[in-house]
Amino acid sequence: MSPTSFQVSADNRRYPGHVAIIMDGNGRWANQRGKPRTAGHLAGAKTVREIVEHARRSSVRCLTLYAFSSDNWSRPKDEVDALMRLFRRHLAAETPKCVENDIRMSVVGRRDRISPELCHAIRAAEEATIDCESLHLRLAVDYSARDTMVRAAAAAPVGSPLSRDAFAELLAEVNHDDGSAGDVDLLIRTGGEQRLSDFLLWECAYAELVFSRRMWPEFGTADFDAAVEDFRARDRRFGGLSKARMG
Ligand code: IPE
Ligand code: IPE
Ligand code: MG
Repeated sequence: MSPTSFQVSADNRRYPGHVAIIMDGNGRWANQRGKPRTAGHLAGAKTVREIVEHARRSSVRCLTLYAFSSDNWSRPKDEVDALMRLFRRHLAAETPKCVENDIRMSVVGRRDRISPELCHAIRAAEEATIDCESLHLRLAVDYSARDTMVRAAAAAPVGSPLSRDAFAELLAEVNHDDGSAGDVDLLIRTGGEQRLSDFLLWECAYAELVFSRRMWPEFGTADFDAAVEDFRARDRRFGGLSKARMG
């Protein structure tokens, strides 16, 4: 897998190049307000807009957002249908804004279980933003890290040794991805739970994890900045020794 490409600031502390977010807590946010869960998803879409705009202005080069897990198909049909409608509307509404703001949008995950209309909206968004470079926004829809790994393993050539880089390429292929995102530097999960829920298990091997108690609809740009600051204070050793101790 390609090495992470951080940016280094004047004070020599690194910024995360690839940030991934498990956007959790929409349903609880809505319930706490006596609203249906779908109102939480709608409010969550507004947060997506704010955080994407904010990330675009920061040093982040790739932002991967967990929008719908493969296990989320087990939710009531009404909620799943509402989410799928929301994704379609969101993609259509955001595509021109992404073009304007030089944001490349792509969707990772399976495409064989979503509707042809959503597939079409995904392709349209990807094609319209293919040349944008300031930020790569990846939405994970019908995504399962374990399913991805099983399918990548099944697609591996028989009889020749498989390297990490070659396996990472297979992972990208089965997810309709180009593999350019690489490893995750900073993983944020909102909503108070402290688990990965089958998200980017391979890519998060050395990610720094930040768990926020805020529900996703109330997660703001200051929370995002706080997570980045938390990341910057960490000592990433990748199995080696920190610079201070190597000295
Ligand atoms: C995350 O919020 C959005 C999706 C999984 C689609 P949830 O819907 O999981 O909200 P909670 O965790 O039930 O509050
Ligand atoms: C993870 O949240 C999936 C997304 C945020 C899209 P879930 O709410 O589905 O995860 P669990 O069930 O709490 O592990
Ligand atoms: Mg949840």
